[in-house]
Amino acid sequence: MAFLEWSDNLELGFAEIDNQHRWLVNATNALHDELIHGKADRAEVEKLLNGLVDYTLTHFVTEELLFHWHNYPDDEAHTREHTNFVTAVREWQKRYKAGEEELSEEILEFLKHWLLDHILKSDKAYAPFLKAHGVK
Ligand SMILES: [Fe+2]
Ligand SMILES: [Fe+2]
Repeated sequence: MAFLEWSDNLELGFAEIDNQHRWLVNATNALHDELIHGKADRAEVEKLLNGLVDYTLTHFVTEELLFHWHNYPDDEAHTREHTNFVTAVREWQKRYKAGEEELSEEILEFLKHWLLDHILKSDKAYAPFLKAHGVK
């Protein structure tokens, strides 16, 4: 069983966004496997963390552009959650690079809970609005 299991529950019904969420779930699992089951090779972990940050930025831009184009009323609060997440992950990145060894479980739990919570609550909240505006 994967660390972060994909479920139908996470599906919002938008092709591109669902694919991006799947990618993020897979990337979290890859990080988990490297940290917990792998050799926790520092260069590899850093590469995975960098990839996660880059891809997360791409994903957030995708959502934020849709909010902008369709005048999503909760745009500001949602974008703030994105910004806070990026700040937090960059902080993990910095601490990991600085050689803090005991971060593994903390990073993984943070990623897992943030992703699940954000997709199931905040992302799910925009789904009816964007659907009503013809987004597929
Ligand atoms: Fe979001
Ligand atoms: Fe999202």
